[in-house]
Amino acid sequence: MLKRSYRKIQCRRAGQSGLWLSEIGLGLWKWGDPSYDGSRVGDHDGFPILDRSLEHGIFHWDTACSYNMGSGNSERLLGRYFASRGREVRDQVVLATKVSNPVRPEHVAEADFTPNQSGASRIYVQFAVEQCLRRLQTDVIDLLYIHSPRVDDTGEFIVPLDETWGAMDDLVTQGKVRYIAVSNHSARQMQSVASTVTEVGKDSSRRIVAVQNRYNLLQRNRVASEPEGSERAFLDVARSLGVSVIPYYPLASGLLTGRYRKDTLNKASGRIIDDGAQDAWFTDENLNAVEALIGLAEQKGLSLAQLALGWLLSREEVASVIAGVTRIEQLDDNVGAAELDPDDLGRIDAILEAAGLSNA
Ligand SMILES: NC(=O)c1ccc[n+]([C@@H]2O[C@H](COP(=O)([O-])OP(=O)(O)OC[C@H]3O[C@@H](n4cnc5c(N)ncnc54)[C@H](OP(=O)(O)O)[C@@H]3O)[C@@H](O)[C@H]2O)c1
Repeated sequence: MLKRSYRKIQCRRAGQSGLWLSEIGLGLWKWGDPSYDGSRVGDHDGFPILDRSLEHGIFHWDTACSYNMGSGNSERLLGRYFASRGREVRDQVVLATKVSNPVRPEHVAEADFTPNQSGASRIYVQFAVEQCLRRLQTDVIDLLYIHSPRVDDTGEFIVPLDETWGAMDDLVTQGKVRYIAVSNHSARQMQSVASTVTEVGKDSSRRIVAVQNRYNLLQRNRVASEPEGSERAFLDVARSLGVSVIPYYPLASGLLTGRYRKDTLNKASGRIIDDGAQDAWFTDENLNAVEALIGLAEQKGLSLAQLALGWLLSREEVASVIAGVTRIEQLDDNVGAAELDPDDLGRIDAILEAAGLSNA
């Protein structure tokens, strides 16, 4: 695999495109305005994290129009950051965002949306991108995803694919978007999109370069984004299409950092507890696997987060891992993601098998 280094970070290409991504990226889902939308990071804490991120060489930043909680405030925070740091800083960043979910007007807690104010139609995609550009205080989005496929009861796309991807292609022609991508798509859906993009593209260089799906070492098969889907089959399809995988929840919402341990769960704090998501994450299988993985990480002088991110980066199909961080120390930790050898990967497989998670 072709790699380049930049500051402390290795970089990989998005698919077969000329776009380089820092292997370690930054996820900005829970960023915005803590006084209004319940985010975990606002300007005061966030700007120093963004500064430090660039110092490390972490230049792939991931947000979405609807972050956080449909408010658009994650994009607004980034817009204020770019305005305060200037053009030179904006130009270093690969700015990724997503459309298809509805976004409330600023400072409006609840909104009633018309059917045209969400989804993957031409009317909404074009409107949503104009709004993204305004919130982000920029004139171009480097990587634009369709956030999630909207399908009917039979699993067919509700909006004809040539409408959605014709609109995306026009945005590239207009210079508002540079690269296009999908999120939460299955292998079959990704294949359909890839062939539509080839059909509707204004030139032969237009193609989807990335797929952003849930993927972490406790939930390997979730990357396939469909029940019964398998990790290896999905990665093979992505590779054959020349599409890179960008895992979300790479740290399992924080469970793969060691901050939640079996014997001290009642004293633990963090996002999983604040979000009331304990039942989903604190299963016996997950907690047993975490204990064993911490043991392996300690033997190797790594943090659990470094082991978990390194495991994802051991997959050639993965171009960048976009861990969400809420503190500078977390960013500094994640920068040290491990390079794992086949022996380490075998030991991780054995741990997952013993915990009953090989097929999770
Ligand atoms: N495409 C989609 O549909 C979709 C869906 C979800 C997310 N995403 C994207 O993926 C990104 C990553 O996912 P995520 O943020 O939800 O989950 P994540 O990266 O799995 O977990 C992030 C949480 O882990 C904790 N953390 C991170 N680094 C740490 C470290 N070194 N030590 C200790 N704790 C650490 C923080 O917890 P505390 O908050 O408790 O400090 C942070 O909030 C998002 O920000 C977003 O950009 C995309």
